[in-house]
Amino acid sequence: MDFETLVRSRRMRRSFTNSRVERAVIERCVDLARLSPSAGKTQGWNLVLLDGADTEKFWSCTLPTERRASFTWPSLLHAPVIAVALADPDAYVERYSEKDKAHTGLGDGSHAWPVKYWTVDASFAVMTFLYALDDAGLGSLFFAVFNGENELRSALGIPPQMEIIGAIAIGVPDGSDAPGRSAARQSRSVSDFIHWGTW
Ligand SMILES: Cc1cc2nc3c(=O)[nH]c(=O)nc-3n(C[C@H](O)[C@H](O)[C@H](O)COP(=O)(O)O)c2cc1C
Repeated sequence: MDFETLVRSRRMRRSFTNSRVERAVIERCVDLARLSPSAGKTQGWNLVLLDGADTEKFWSCTLPTERRASFTWPSLLHAPVIAVALADPDAYVERYSEKDKAHTGLGDGSHAWPVKYWTVDASFAVMTFLYALDDAGLGSLFFAVFNGENELRSALGIPPQMEIIGAIAIGVPDGSDAPGRSAARQSRSVSDFIHWGTW
């Protein structure tokens, strides 16, 4: 798919078939995400990938069974792969303590960072990953882990310093996607974003 078509056609998908997704396909997409820009080339992002029956580890922490009957997107739970995207502040503090970066003062600790580059890098990488998944013919939803974060951390053994950026449901869309809650909002136009020269 050419780049413009890919960008214009990508949508978040919230309804999936039960079809399996080969790990090799996911790994090819991560191989592309790996090439995303990264501050100091720290690359301090990680994905905990759950597939098949393991996806229940995610759902049992974040969407307990008693809440599933009223869940707006029941076929989201069919997604055969769930990725939990993590950003590692410690990797950035460590990298910016190295000789070529020490002058920045950012090696003093995560508190010294006016912009959290671990969040920026993880976001860039996730975006590349989402496009790669689309290009591979898969659908995905990036979504927040609003509930059960502590349970999820302990179930998946996520190291305490890691920030959970969000979760990504991945699979073959079943074509019955109800629009997301924000879908009706108007998209801003090019001129709304641009402030040539000054605000
Ligand atoms: C940071 C972020 C958090 C999001 N969280 C959720 C979420 O919790 N649940 C959900 O259904 N969609 C979530 N979305 C998807 C947005 O609603 C969606 O991207 C937006 O409505 C535009 O639709 P599109 O991506 O299909 O063009 C999130 C997107 C981003 C970038």
